[in-house]
Amino acid sequence: MAMAAIARVSELPLCLLLLCLLLPCLAHARVNSVPELENRMYATLQGSPCVRWLNLTGELGCGNPRRTLAKAPIRTADNALDSPAAVLVPSEKAFREFVDRFGDNENVIGVLVGNGSRVAAGDSDDVQFPQSQFAPYENRAWIWNSVGSGLMQRRFNFPVFLLSPESTVLAQKLASENADNGFKRPTNAVEFGDIMQTTKSETYTSESCLRDLSCLPLGGYSVMSTFPAVNVSAPVTKPVVVAMASMDAATFFRDVAPGADSPMSGVLALLAAVDALSRIDGFNEFPKRLVVLVFTGEARGYLGSRQFLAQLKKGNFVDYGLTTSSIKQVVEVGSVGQASQSTFFAHKQATAASASTQQILESLRLSAAATSSTVKLANAANPGIPPSSLMTFVHNDPSVAGVVLEEFDTAFSNKFYHSQYDDKSNVNTTAIAAAASILARTLVMLASDNTDSPILKSIQVTLLCSQLPLFNRFVLDNLVCFLSDFAPHL
Ligand SMILES: *[C@@H]1O[C@H](CO)[C@@H](O)[C@H](O)[C@H]1NC(C)=O
Ligand SMILES: *[C@@H]1O[C@H](CO)[C@@H](O)[C@H](O)[C@H]1NC(C)=O
Ligand SMILES: *[C@@H]1O[C@H](CO)[C@@H](O)[C@H](O)[C@H]1NC(C)=O
Ligand SMILES: *[C@@H]1O[C@H](CO)[C@@H](O)[C@H](O)[C@H]1NC(C)=O
Repeated sequence: MAMAAIARVSELPLCLLLLCLLLPCLAHARVNSVPELENRMYATLQGSPCVRWLNLTGELGCGNPRRTLAKAPIRTADNALDSPAAVLVPSEKAFREFVDRFGDNENVIGVLVGNGSRVAAGDSDDVQFPQSQFAPYENRAWIWNSVGSGLMQRRFNFPVFLLSPESTVLAQKLASENADNGFKRPTNAVEFGDIMQTTKSETYTSESCLRDLSCLPLGGYSVMSTFPAVNVSAPVTKPVVVAMASMDAATFFRDVAPGADSPMSGVLALLAAVDALSRIDGFNEFPKRLVVLVFTGEARGYLGSRQFLAQLKKGNFVDYGLTTSSIKQVVEVGSVGQASQSTFFAHKQATAASASTQQILESLRLSAAATSSTVKLANAANPGIPPSSLMTFVHNDPSVAGVVLEEFDTAFSNKFYHSQYDDKSNVNTTAIAAAASILARTLVMLASDNTDSPILKSIQVTLLCSQLPLFNRFVLDNLVCFLSDFAPHL
């Protein structure tokens, strides 16, 4: 399978991913030192880059292979491109229109994308069937993500930065000064920080660049936790119920991927459910053990779940009582932050009909009924499960009993999937709390093999950040405070 790699930039803190701006010397006052001169000549634009991604067969994203220094006068996209230019476009939508027309134009030295407002109809940098190559079914033409532009899959040979709001204002001012004086010297020019823009020559695939140390491998930490905790000096193997979610999003501009609905709403629901379960007794007596998994790297080729199953097969989790044959049921929480009227959809593989699968579906249905929500079985016309970590599990074992809980039925309801705009305004905390309650009850029913367990009565799901310190590690600090302010105890 393809392995992706990223151009050498990761060591740099975000604040260094800057653009330098070459300004004409405006002041006539005396300059006393070189740094002072530099300060007068340069201003810094703050932006987030589109970076170069490499896979086994080629390159995606943005790079600067032709030049060692990318520097040119700044201008807006409405002027004719008759000389080298750093082009300022107002928004990501305008950027897509621009590159459709001028993407191959040699005069494009670099592009600055302004902080345009989001398009109400939707915007997604991913394709219409994200990561379809991992689907455990034939139909790859299915449209899960109807607004997908596929921008993430494109390749550009010039740097592209998303500007901060303040820098957008400054860039607009500089571009209009240039236009006003007819691009006569001295002009305002942009010099792109190119540290991260150039791949060491001749390493155009992940394999060769990793060998040459001209890029870094993709990676990260996934998290596993067991209920009850396993005594590693005397592990007991029990049948396992897996509850899982993924925690990373991806967009065209690597560092602007809030992923509030997809996938963070699912992570928040899962952590709130687990938090509730951590405060009840009885798991020791249940016939099944609960294993909670939160994967990273899923948005870039399901790296986390594939690594987990690879290590499971090697026997690396035997000390945790976990082997390939112990996993009986898998419940995944996908995007749940937009469930309207607290209605969710349970997705399973079309062929999955085992008693274990039925038990998951029935537990979800009963749990919803007990918490004033609804869980419906997803449309039978769907080709199979939507893009999810469960795809990895089905590939590993087609007979696995697995269900993905989602806010949507036949296509994403998230109009900003894998977009810079999938922020907290894109989720409804009531829906996340409802999903958490359904999950907590479902997991008790499955682990206890009892839909009427007395323990169900003691489940208290809350979305309070003080009880979920893990939240602080995620991008959504503001969402968390929002949750603690408004989410009721359920
Ligand atoms: C790898 O990159 C090549 C070249 O851009 C692209 O055509 C191909 O679709 C990519 N493969 C995957 C799995 O994304
Ligand atoms: C971009 O940011 C500026 C400065 O904060 C703000 O005035 C403007 O409304 C923003 N533009 C959009 C389209 O959000
Ligand atoms: C773990 O297992 C060891 C070996 O059987 C035992 O001595 C120890 O008491 C167990 N620890 C707990 C916390 O049960
Ligand atoms: C969130 O969903 C609830 C229940 O469906 C609804 O009453 C509420 O208005 C929604 N909140 C927002 C901000 O859309």
